Amino acid sequence: MTATPDTITRTDTKNPLTSGPGHCAIVGLQWGDEGKGQIVDLLTSDYDVVTRFNGGNNAGHSVHIGDEKFALHLLPSGITYSDKTNVIGNGVVVDPSPDTGILKEIDRITERGVTIGNNLRISDRAHAVLPYHKVEDALYEAAASKAMGNDSDTIGTTGRGIGPCYADKAYRSTAIRMGDLVDADKLRAKLSKTVPIKNVTLAALAAHVGREFETLTVDGLFDQVSAWGKRLAPHVCDTRRLLFDAQAANKRILFEGANAALLDVDHGTYPFVTSSSTSALGIGTGTGLPPKQLGQIIGVCKSYTSRVGGGPHPTELLNETGEHIRSVGKEFGTTTGRPRRVGWLDLTAVRYTAQLNGCTALVTTGISVLSGIETLKVCVGYTYRGTRLDDFPADADILAEAEPIYQELEGFSETLGELRDYDALPAAAKRYVETIEQFVGVPVRIVCVGPKRSQTIMR
Ligand code: IMP
Repeated sequence: MTATPDTITRTDTKNPLTSGPGHCAIVGLQWGDEGKGQIVDLLTSDYDVVTRFNGGNNAGHSVHIGDEKFALHLLPSGITYSDKTNVIGNGVVVDPSPDTGILKEIDRITERGVTIGNNLRISDRAHAVLPYHKVEDALYEAAASKAMGNDSDTIGTTGRGIGPCYADKAYRSTAIRMGDLVDADKLRAKLSKTVPIKNVTLAALAAHVGREFETLTVDGLFDQVSAWGKRLAPHVCDTRRLLFDAQAANKRILFEGANAALLDVDHGTYPFVTSSSTSALGIGTGTGLPPKQLGQIIGVCKSYTSRVGGGPHPTELLNETGEHIRSVGKEFGTTTGRPRRVGWLDLTAVRYTAQLNGCTALVTTGISVLSGIETLKVCVGYTYRGTRLDDFPADADILAEAEPIYQELEGFSETLGELRDYDALPAAAKRYVETIEQFVGVPVRIVCVGPKRSQTIMR
């Protein structure tokens, strides 16, 4: 039996940041929407395989095809390169449908001339998000709201059925994996077991919150879902083996994190999190590849904070500065269009998530958005009931009550979007970047001064 090869020796990269040996992970260090897609886009050409390991179509990132920008939710960012293998690992939950899921993305980008064939591989172990998961997602949110008499205790999910699908994965008897979806006999058998359970539980939940529920039938679901399975079958395979073989052949892999570390089901602001392992810690379980070959772990940190959905956000700005940042930064959700809750940069949170991920480098995004704000603030700790907290608390209730302790920094008024040299940045902007790396203890290797691939400054 072959052991995992011990070293990836290739270092033939175009980018100094990825020049070391080994694979690379790109992960978000806040509550998502840090601009990971821009960095994946920038670095993809240095890798042979691009792999998603967590989340589903709750995430969103953009790829450019010519001058056109496409919002993708499930397809890995290397999909527009014909020579890259794009893997959706077993830790991802896949909505297969052509109205909201991966078939929709495939249809949209093939219309634009992108060929999708062997370059897309979906794990047979990945779990399928089926239409009833979305119904269940909405019913749970409504039931939580009813129980508490308000919406403030709901998670504010994206409504994509992510939590219920991961819950079925843990329940096991009601789970359907992509390998089942593409095998008609197995699919029918799995649906025959699942549908009666869903009919009982969802009808009861719907009655509880006063909503209609349309009874599911095995035949109806089978006809719909097996047609999706047929289309996706050529892409479904044992991606663990594929990744292992790619590694053995000295190929380099880029792991594309979805969502972000503060939304991690174990280490985020639980219960106001998503349902997967969103940090580099999730790569092993989400792909089946042991993490010993990871050379670079790049954490993307937006120069301020944003959050969509419920949960604590100590540095949230519910004032004109917040409105200004939201409008200049175009802070509206890619997946749901919801306005994001923006706030000052929380360095205590970012230091915590950089530690969780084992970051070797940081990328800052969004600094241009802060131009014109006279005094900038970064959170360097919290006060909770009179006691100073220097670390990010595990308990979301503590975080909700905690008062941020701010360090003030001089702002800058220059426009940064055209700058390509770190030394050309205004002194105050450089001080801001250097405050981040000093506090977090990880070097900032790229400063993004705008959302385009070219708007990046390497350090
Ligand atoms: P779910 O993943 O749809 O269950 O949503 C759980 C929480 O995570 C909600 O507050 C969502 O707004 C948030 N969330 C999930 N994915 C993302 C993301 O990619 N960016 C930002 N927030 C996200």
